[in-house]
Amino acid sequence: MARQAGVRLTLGMAEDLNVSAGSKEEQYMSLIPQIAGLLEGETDLIANLGNICAALHEQFRWLWVGFYLVKEDELVLGPFQGPVACTRIRRGRGVCGSAWQQKKTLLVPDVEQFPGHIACSSRSRSEIVIPVVRKGEVLGVLDVDSDALASFDLTDEIYLTRITDMLVFGD
Ligand code: SME
Repeated sequence: MARQAGVRLTLGMAEDLNVSAGSKEEQYMSLIPQIAGLLEGETDLIANLGNICAALHEQFRWLWVGFYLVKEDELVLGPFQGPVACTRIRRGRGVCGSAWQQKKTLLVPDVEQFPGHIACSSRSRSEIVIPVVRKGEVLGVLDVDSDALASFDLTDEIYLTRITDMLVFGD
């Protein structure tokens, strides 16, 4: 891995992300190796969470992409891209807290139909939340919000899970 003056050169000559066109699947297929390159050799979790959010946001232009991390029995806001967001979410609350409690991905095509949805942004219309599970424990969630209805489907679930599976948590 090339390291020069503290800057990792993992995306080729330039540091820019190669944003691709095509189907959603093609976009993920182009993005995932680039995310792998960004994570390679970097052990700092926050740095890696930050770059994942930036890469997903740049590629898909979703309203909000971010991580919440489990800290002392709450979800606490971590790295994200998008509008300011709620900082703490209890287990079982909202889409994020429900995905944590149920240890499963939640696809919400219309947030207004999800009882207890927490509206961090009034522009959010649909949402997907993927719990990050290690050794049976939820360590955090990846939350993605769209300003369009029904933006997320099984393709997103599969590829976003693949991306969160790339994360290495300490210990
Ligand atoms: N809508 C989420 C809260 C987090 S924000 O969307 C960033 C929820 O219901 O858990």
